[in-house]
Amino acid sequence: MGKSGAGKTSMRLLIFSNYTANDTRRLGATIDVEHSTVQFMGDLNLNIWDCGGQHKYLDNYLNEQKENIFGNVEVLIYVFDLETTNKDSEYMLYDECLHSLATYSRDAKVYCLVHKMDKIPDPEKKAQTVELYRQALAKRSDLFRPEVFGTSIWDQSLYHAWSQIVYKMVPNMATIEDHLNNFRRLADATEVALFERATFLVVCSASVDPSTALKKYMGVSQSIKTYRFTCGQLQLPFQSIEMRNKNYSLFIEPFTKSTYILVITTDPDIEPAVTKANINAARNHFV
Ligand code: GTP
Repeated sequence: MGKSGAGKTSMRLLIFSNYTANDTRRLGATIDVEHSTVQFMGDLNLNIWDCGGQHKYLDNYLNEQKENIFGNVEVLIYVFDLETTNKDSEYMLYDECLHSLATYSRDAKVYCLVHKMDKIPDPEKKAQTVELYRQALAKRSDLFRPEVFGTSIWDQSLYHAWSQIVYKMVPNMATIEDHLNNFRRLADATEVALFERATFLVVCSASVDPSTALKKYMGVSQSIKTYRFTCGQLQLPFQSIEMRNKNYSLFIEPFTKSTYILVITTDPDIEPAVTKANINAARNHFV
């Protein structure tokens, strides 16, 4: 949800349909609601409703179609256009959406994306802007406590936000995390991460240094998607990646039917063939 031109369709197509940021420049306004269903992590079906943000549609969502739009919502992602010329009317719309959400889907989670962050080049100013939104939004929603992310289709921030959102939707994530931690330890790896096959969003990671967050793999998501896109254009199937230098070995391999695995080892005594054998042996524990 969000006003027309905020960037909702662009982000959906980037994450779920292999669009590049450049491709989104040609998009027209969404007519009413565009429904799509994507299969995520095997059995999870995400029903995504991309609600066109033109006035006539917004009025309709908040009146005649209220129950249809706001009923049975698991997650509401509200996209704020950073460059909006009328913040007050944006907040009013947001309040109205949350009011309807409270009536029909009290248990929904709310995420707010402060979008088009590429328009602010200075990293410090970026952080300040997101913080200002965070404070303003925290004051407005007493039932929902929205998580706020700064995003842009032009960098990895979009992957960061969406990974965090879907991470919380995968029902058996704690078990997957346990398995991944065990695998990392048994394979003597420094870093391990799981990526969802279609979107290349990071769904889970394990590291020798537990303070490192999912965040550092977002660059990988973005690079692999670009690489895979280029392979597609050249009609070369993307299969796996292997990189080795004197400091580390990195492998990205198809893993389960819905994931790829990334494994990084830094111990020079671990032969690459051993790491690959470990990946093969671990597969059955994750299906
Ligand atoms: P409606 O369908 O009318 O509701 O609009 P929307 O929110 O779906 O916006 P859309 O995705 O169609 O994007 C509108 C324009 O914003 C397009 O020209 C995109 O290229 C541009 N855009 C989307 N995301 C970003 C971003 O992160 N940064 C910049 N600079 N432009 C963006």
